This record gives sequence, C-alpha cells and structure tokens, in this order.
Amino acid sequence: MQLLKDRVIFLTGGSKGIGLECAIKYAEEGARIAIISNDQASINYAISILGKEHLGLLADVSNPKDIQRAITDTQLRFGKIDVIHNNAGIAHPSKNIHETEDWEWDNLFNINVKGIYFTTKFGLNALIETKGCIINTSSLVGDIGQEDHAAYSATKGAVNALTKSMALDYAKYKIRVNAVAPAGVWTQMLEDWGKEQNDVEGIKNYLDGIHALGYCPNGDVVADACVFLASDKARFITGIIMPVSGGAELGYKRINHLETI
Ligand SMILES: NC(=O)c1ccc[n+]([C@@H]2O[C@H](COP(=O)([O-])OP(=O)(O)OC[C@H]3O[C@@H](n4cnc5c(N)ncnc54)[C@H](O)[C@@H]3O)[C@@H](O)[C@H]2O)c1
Repeated sequence: MQLLKDRVIFLTGGSKGIGLECAIKYAEEGARIAIISNDQASINYAISILGKEHLGLLADVSNPKDIQRAITDTQLRFGKIDVIHNNAGIAHPSKNIHETEDWEWDNLFNINVKGIYFTTKFGLNALIETKGCIINTSSLVGDIGQEDHAAYSATKGAVNALTKSMALDYAKYKIRVNAVAPAGVWTQMLEDWGKEQNDVEGIKNYLDGIHALGYCPNGDVVADACVFLASDKARFITGIIMPVSGGAELGYKRINHLETI
C-alpha cells in the first residue's frame, strides 16, 4: 500500500539535493508534488525525472508574493494541500559571527527561517481544510552548534523552536508539525561548504567520521524519514526534531576524539 496516496505536497527546495530525494520518495508513495525552487534549470530536471503530473514552480521562499502565488497555483492545479515541507535552505557563509556580513546574516534568516513564516502564513488555511502536516528540514547544528557556522546554526535553532511552537499552536486544527535534523548529507550544499574549510582534502574522512554509523549518507535516508512523518504512520507524532544523523549527536568529532585517546 502506498503511504501517501493522493496526498498533495508543497515542497520547497525540491529541485536538488535532499529535497529532490524527498520528491522522488513522495512520488513513489503516491503523492503529487509541487516543487518550489528559485532555480528553473533544476526544476526542469526534477520534473523530467518525476513526470508531468507533478508541478514545478519558480519562487523565492524569502519573497512573500512568490510564496502566496505558489500556494494559489498549487491549489488551482491539485485542489488542496496536505503537506508543506519547508526544505529550501542555504548554508553560506561558513564564518565566525563577527566576520559575517549584514547581508549574509539577512540572507540566511530570510531564506531558512522567514521562508517558513511565509509558507505558513499563506498555506495554513489549506492545511486546516485537510488536517495536514508541516515538515521542516532543520539540522543537527541547530541543537549542538558548529564551529565557523554560527549564523547558519542560529537559523536552524530558530527552525527547531518554530517547529515546537507551531506544533502547539496548530494542534487544535489537528495539524502536526515536525522537523528532521540531518548531520551531513552529500549534496551540492555540503560540497560547497567543504570548499570553505581549511582541510578541503580531509573533508570526506571528517564527514564519514562524525557519523557513528561510519559514513556520510545521501538524501534518501532523510527522504525515508520524511515519508514516515508525512504519513498516517506518524499520526500521533508532533513537535519533534527527529535526528537523521547516523548517531552523529552521540559522538560529534569522533575521529578527533579517538585520535586524542
Ligand atoms: N546537505 C547537508 O549536509 C545538510 C545537513 C543538514 C541540514 N541540511 C538542510 O537540508 C536542506 C536542503 O539542503 P541541501 O543540502 O539539499 O541543499 P541544496 O543546495 O542541494 O538544495 C537546496 C534547494 O533549495 C533551493 N533554494 C535555495 N534557496 C532558495 C530560495 N531562496 N527560494 C527557493 N528555493 C531555494 C535550491 O534551489 C535547491 O532546490 C536545507 O534546509 C539545509 O539547511 C542539509
């Protein structure tokens, strides 16, 4: 049986990386997906994989007009929205806070946090009708922090707090709100972050080593968790930040730690 048969999923950042893996798994489970992204080329690629029964919409999550229009277009095409998955995000820059430029700070918060505000503001009524759910793609660093990545970590801490507060506020509508928190996942974002580090060559070993299960995964592991959270199997789960991290939070920097023993 398909876990998401006939569900309509509004998925931001669904054209690449973790989002694209989620779109593929959602489609396999019978959902129709509206992929929202600020990059037309990758939207075209995603739709070429998923099929024309899904919808690709060019929109910037930090722009309220774009998001209002994307919600309306999704409802016009599919008649409803069952799930809003806030996955779009950026991770640049990898810097200490005092080195972070004003515009870099604003960019991070406008996309990673304010984007969730806009999809909720314009999409909540649709979710009230379907008693739907919200999934936020957070990050382990929102809980445990990360060196040279303060502003990004702060956005994910905000995502975690939002997830819990929204879960409380919208429980009365039977809307569940949860987050997934990966550690590392091989995507363009992670490749770009790696290039900003001092030891570019050592990054793969480092990223394998931080995960207790011994490797840095692809986005499919996050997508499987999101299918579960979006489905009725998770009907009594709300307000959680689910680590999808291979146990990274149990021994962050495992390699360095072992070296010093
Ligand atoms: N890759 C990792 O290691 C990792 C770890 C933890 C959390 N995350 C989180 O997972 C999410 C996805 O990351 P990813 O690694 O797949 O990144 P990615 O760069 O591969 O993909 C990001 C997606 O978001 C879209 N996007 C970016 N800015 C946008 C905007 N302003 N408006 C609309 N769409 C926009 C892009 O077009 C793309 O589809 C992010 O929220 C990220 O913070 C990633």
